[in-house]
Amino acid sequence: MLVCHCRGVSDRQIKRAVKNGACSLREVARETGAGMRCGGCRSNVAQVVQDALKSELRPSSVASSVSSMIRLELPMAAEG
Ligand code: FES
Repeated sequence: MLVCHCRGVSDRQIKRAVKNGACSLREVARETGAGMRCGGCRSNVAQVVQDALKSELRPSSVASSVSSMIRLELPMAAEG
């Protein structure tokens, strides 16, 4: 399922990023590009990240991810 339409990032790509060690929304965004354009998908990306972290059994990472989701301090890509 496509989660980030701007960057064409699927839930499978997000889950793979988490499996490969990404443990926050910021890290997943850095690795996949998800949420780095309009930002409209960030809550959905964050939910997929949180679910993936839970399934990877990394509770401390879930807390960190939730914290970064709340702040949503990801930069937007410049249009043009
Ligand atoms: S839909 Fe993901 S950044 Fe726009």
